[in-house]
Amino acid sequence: MTHEPRPPQVPAEAEGGGGGHMTRGSVLVVGAYSVDLVLRELAGPVAFGAEVWAGDLGMVPGGAFTPAMGLRRLGREVVWAADFGTDVFSQEVLAAARAEGIDERGFRHHPGPVRNVTVALSQPQDRAMIAYEDPVTARPLAELIDAFRPAALMLPFLQYGPGVSAALDVASRCGTRVFMDCQDYAGHLGMPEVREVLAKVDVFAPNEPEALRITGAADAQEALDVLAALVPTVIVKRGSAGAIAAAGSVRAARTAPRVPVVDTTGAGDCFNVGFLHRWLDDAPLADCLSAGIACGTASVTGPGSSTALDASGLRAWLQRRETETETEMGRETETETETGRETAGRLPGDEGPRDGRRRDGDATPGTSPGPGKIVVAAVPDVSGAAHGREGRPALD
Ligand SMILES: Nc1ncnc2c1ncn2[C@@H]1O[C@H](COP(=O)(O)OP(=O)(O)O)[C@@H](O)[C@H]1O
Ligand SMILES: [Mg+2]
Repeated sequence: MTHEPRPPQVPAEAEGGGGGHMTRGSVLVVGAYSVDLVLRELAGPVAFGAEVWAGDLGMVPGGAFTPAMGLRRLGREVVWAADFGTDVFSQEVLAAARAEGIDERGFRHHPGPVRNVTVALSQPQDRAMIAYEDPVTARPLAELIDAFRPAALMLPFLQYGPGVSAALDVASRCGTRVFMDCQDYAGHLGMPEVREVLAKVDVFAPNEPEALRITGAADAQEALDVLAALVPTVIVKRGSAGAIAAAGSVRAARTAPRVPVVDTTGAGDCFNVGFLHRWLDDAPLADCLSAGIACGTASVTGPGSSTALDASGLRAWLQRRETETETEMGRETETETETGRETAGRLPGDEGPRDGRRRDGDATPGTSPGPGKIVVAAVPDVSGAAHGREGRPALD
């Protein structure tokens, strides 16, 4: 694909983004799309001045497309606040979003390109990523919440600051419950503005490396305890080891079933979708966790989030899992307890950081890193599997 010239700052006269209150159980997802281009089976090392052939190229829609799509597949009414341009990447994701039946009231269509692309160069032991986002002026989060009044707001990454804090006050007044993922965004509990926002979030769902980083805790259990003192419901996602969660004094832990791993991109987002889906129905913590694990694990069996479950797929998965668990004696990790810390603490070993992308602690939702800012990260890949790379770092 040829490289397009750098676009001008996207003008303000983008179309779309009308409001209209949402129905019961609905979710507003706020976050940019991304297209992930993954080049695998490189013939040699990548270096300036040299050309290297790749044996395989994958292109998958990602970013906030994944939670919007996943929630829609489970039957939720979803408004996704996202920006699209005239470029091929926007059009690709827009077509995918339409095919999934995502409500278009949150879409803004710009008269120029809005290209959000991550190119990943994947080798068995290493992975280099180059990310690019065209700059777009974000819509104020508070206005979006007020316009749509959803049952839940899904924020796919850690964000904080006065604007976010005020928006979460609006959410509280509208009866909107807030689910926030972390992703590898800068910010930690030593920052008062981070603590202030987390205190206004209903569910916070970092993965293990993120949880350790923002809390400074020595292990996942300690990180869970620290975060649980701030946020009503906390999840720590642990890749192939499953996840642990806390809601007040209730603790739950779930292992992930072994599956042939094709691609872990979007697994965390798919997990979030399953968890939030059951949580919005006021299901017990352990059941929310089971649904999260089901959706997360199903998603790693195909490229990107293409194998994300629909409602009947989730039911079938959970039923199968229940039968499997009943036949496996003594699986102490499958519990929800009031004092279950000992049990949850016995989960299998750690994984290293799986997402090499570190974004600036950009406190404004939907704001891109800046005109033409390029983020380059070289991160360790994990072991290979089937076709594709097992445990390769999540791209979103
Ligand atoms: N290798 C894997 N095998 C099985 N399930 C996985 C694997 N990687 C991820 N998952 C599932 O996806 C969920 C979220 O993945 P995780 O890697 O912890 O989040 P993130 O993508 O945010 O880093 C896990 O809790 C698990 O259910
Ligand atoms: Mg994640």
